[in-house]
Amino acid sequence: MPGEQHQPKSRGGTAMSQLSDGFGRSFPYMRLSLTEACNFRCSYCLPDGYHADGRPQFLGVAEIERLVRAFAALGMHKIRLTGGEPSLRKDLEQIIATVARVPGIRKVAITTNGCRLPRLLPLWQRAGLTALNVSMDSLRRERFHAITGHDRLPEILEGIELAQQLGLSSVKLNAVLLRERNDDELPQWMEFLRERPVSVRFIELMRTGDNAEFFQRYHLDAEGVINQLTAAGWQQRPRAADAGPAREFNHPDYCGTVGIIAPYSRDFCKDCNRLRVTARGDLRLCLFGDFGIALRPLLQSDQDREALIARISGQLGLKAAGHGLHQGNTGITPHLASIGG
Ligand code: 5AD
Ligand code: SF4
Repeated sequence: MPGEQHQPKSRGGTAMSQLSDGFGRSFPYMRLSLTEACNFRCSYCLPDGYHADGRPQFLGVAEIERLVRAFAALGMHKIRLTGGEPSLRKDLEQIIATVARVPGIRKVAITTNGCRLPRLLPLWQRAGLTALNVSMDSLRRERFHAITGHDRLPEILEGIELAQQLGLSSVKLNAVLLRERNDDELPQWMEFLRERPVSVRFIELMRTGDNAEFFQRYHLDAEGVINQLTAAGWQQRPRAADAGPAREFNHPDYCGTVGIIAPYSRDFCKDCNRLRVTARGDLRLCLFGDFGIALRPLLQSDQDREALIARISGQLGLKAAGHGLHQGNTGITPHLASIGG
């Protein structure tokens, strides 16, 4: 639909008001999974690796374009491409270019395990990528290998250095906190952050449908990290109005910052600003929700655009106030590779 005007305001009302729910939250941010496949075997996610299940293919470029145009028409301006591992898609560069071109989209981010960064990052940036998140659970090579099943830390570090050289505006590293497996690395992380303007996010391990036993054994509260940070002079930054769920810390002696993502903490869901779409085109209102809303049937033709927009905005009223993790309810998410975290 080139040439057509999709700016939110052309549909009447303000952009933000159209993607909002019954709890006053708005959703300028979409996480779109491009594939459930992954080449890593992270012990908390896909310990036995990914096995294809023979179900239909993941969304194609034309379907993705219709989807993103509809969300952007409703006021979404930031998109994150996730997986599985999104770099396993051979058409990733084309997908980035396609979503970056959609009117209204201001940020195109990706979350990757990083193994293809040295080769592909320059192409992704040229296609329109603006932000990068890399999963990196340990700074020690042998631990990284043990957690992910792959001895790829050197390439990933190389990719992160490259991201800096290329001047990517946002580089974040995700480290899932694991009791006795990586919970003593804060000093090393601080050294890492001293000269590098990147943000490391320590994420509390979340329980999903498939990882109950692992969760019991390795889940660690982020409070310990917060105490260590504060003792070392790190200060929590005031929350920006449009900030996501991370609590951000900085320190005058360090170029980098630290974010804490603690989904089990009180009020975690209060500021939720994101919606998710799975690689097969289901809208998920919550990472741990009990249902998906099929959008794919409305992604087959430009003529379904109005119906698609109506389905998306109509469903937001069903978004619950918060997840049910405290009651052990992990919803329909077997592992985060199925929805992209
Ligand atoms: N709990 C917390 N984080 C997880 N991730 C994957 N599974 C889990 C889990 N069960 C992380 C990945 C990736 C991000 C998208 O989510 O390490 O960095
Ligand atoms: Fe792959 Fe990410 Fe899951 Fe690790 S956490 S197995 S990198 S999808």
